[in-house]
Amino acid sequence: VARSARQYGVESVPIVVDLRNLDALDSFMRQLGPLESRVTVLVHNAAVMRVTRVEDVSVEEFGAMLTLNLLAPFILTQRLLPQLCASKGQIVFINSSIVNHPSEGTTEYAASKHALKGFADGLRAEVNASGVRVISVYPGRTATPLQASLSKIEGRIYLPETLLQPEDVASVVVNALLLPRTGEVTDIMIRAASKSMTQHSIIPDPNVLEAFVGKP
Ligand SMILES: NC(=O)c1ccc[n+]([C@@H]2O[C@H](COP(=O)([O-])OP(=O)(O)OC[C@H]3O[C@@H](n4cnc5c(N)ncnc54)[C@H](OP(=O)(O)O)[C@@H]3O)[C@@H](O)[C@H]2O)c1
Repeated sequence: VARSARQYGVESVPIVVDLRNLDALDSFMRQLGPLESRVTVLVHNAAVMRVTRVEDVSVEEFGAMLTLNLLAPFILTQRLLPQLCASKGQIVFINSSIVNHPSEGTTEYAASKHALKGFADGLRAEVNASGVRVISVYPGRTATPLQASLSKIEGRIYLPETLLQPEDVASVVVNALLLPRTGEVTDIMIRAASKSMTQHSIIPDPNVLEAFVGKP
């Protein structure tokens, strides 16, 4: 990301943090240091998905998913909110079209993304008056490592060219951020133009009882 940004003449400061470790967020804030006063846009993108039936999920596993997909965005938003209010900044939540189509094996993930939607909507009601805009994006299947491993679980051939491209999602986010301040894009649903590979029902391979999608 830093290399790509540099090509466009933008300097960036990458900070690596494991968002499953909430204690590490203190260290992240310390590393951010004086840069905190320059934060104007906060994008919550990191998440994990796992294909598991409810009866096979342990409370610990569900808790770990909620930590990354929900609690980390909550805490980061909380920590950076004073600065975002001061800068009349913008907060972007990369959610998922799964909120409209939870299916067998995706309950944990869908629950975490529903909670993220609730957080974003409630937050918007609190911070709009301070000039902060909150945008939720609900992509369908997108050609990323997550989708590559999901295809394996579903026993499909991975055809990235039939899916949404990460650049498509990035492009709608940038456009929403650039909207003049008279308006606010609150929710963006975006799906691949070709729907044949993007039906929402996830039918796990019967040989795969439980599988992390993307990075465990
Ligand atoms: N791909 C899809 O079809 C799809 C559809 C709808 C919504 N989404 C959403 O889009 C977002 C990006 O997903 P993706 O498709 O790019 O998934 P991915 O290929 O599995 O990538 C996951 C992203 O989350 C980061 N991440 C994972 N665990 C982390 C941790 N413990 N601490 C910090 N960062 C961590 C990864 O960082 P590193 O690269 O550093 O490992 C990576 O940037 C997610 O919110 C996902 O729910 C994806």
